[in-house]
Amino acid sequence: MKVAAAQTHPRFGQPEENRLITRRFCRRAAQQDVRLIVFPELCITGYNFSSKKALVRLAEPVPNGPTTQLWLNLAKAHRLIIVGGLAELDDKGQIFNSAVVVGPKGFLGCYRKLHLFGSEWELFSAGNQIPQVHSVLGFKFGAIVCFDWAFPELARILMLEGCEVLCHPSNLVLPLAQRVMIARSIENRLFTITANRVGTERDLQFTGRSQIISPSGDILVRGRSRRSQLLITEINPAEARNKNITPTNNLITDRRVKLYKRLIS
Ligand code: ACM
Repeated sequence: MKVAAAQTHPRFGQPEENRLITRRFCRRAAQQDVRLIVFPELCITGYNFSSKKALVRLAEPVPNGPTTQLWLNLAKAHRLIIVGGLAELDDKGQIFNSAVVVGPKGFLGCYRKLHLFGSEWELFSAGNQIPQVHSVLGFKFGAIVCFDWAFPELARILMLEGCEVLCHPSNLVLPLAQRVMIARSIENRLFTITANRVGTERDLQFTGRSQIISPSGDILVRGRSRRSQLLITEINPAEARNKNITPTNNLITDRRVKLYKRLIS
């Protein structure tokens, strides 16, 4: 089954143009029989906002806003699952850094980033729900957003809920997550798809190098650091069902959960 990481170069503050970019990537992916495509964090607005006032004008409701509606149409037309990041405006005027999830049969959910990064705290409200696992077109998948990479608890919770493909919309500015996500794949034996953006906004340079990693930690595909690219690879999600890391070691049953209480205190 083919999956893709869309490494885009969003134009800052140009949602119409960025929506068209996502449409082009979905069409190209569909031509190559991709069934699941992941877009970067905040791929519709850009990232580096200096004020909440500027961001609130571009944030949109989910699922009734223009981006989710476009993605719903594309998912249906192309039999695709789409996971992508946008600025979500709720009915109380709060803005969340969210990952929208849609499939050919409709809206599946929206995960609100839990671990905000740097000045995101001045712009966004943090989510307060763990991500869900969705089961569609033979994929069991879930999403985290960018800096969530630094909190292995989320990937572990998703793995315990049956997630086989961890989608990771990102706007990375450090060169760390691409390395860490290999560990997330190995320690949970699941596929990870990190869709990172390229380009610069004010003082921030985004690091590209989007990647798709196998449950054994192999880099199945990896992008360049400065170029917009559609990265496609074939995966067998069933590989992620076997949690044995050796014939005698299982990543779920070998855990010593009674000794981990400190983790949740
Ligand atoms: C990040 O969370 N955008 C680094």
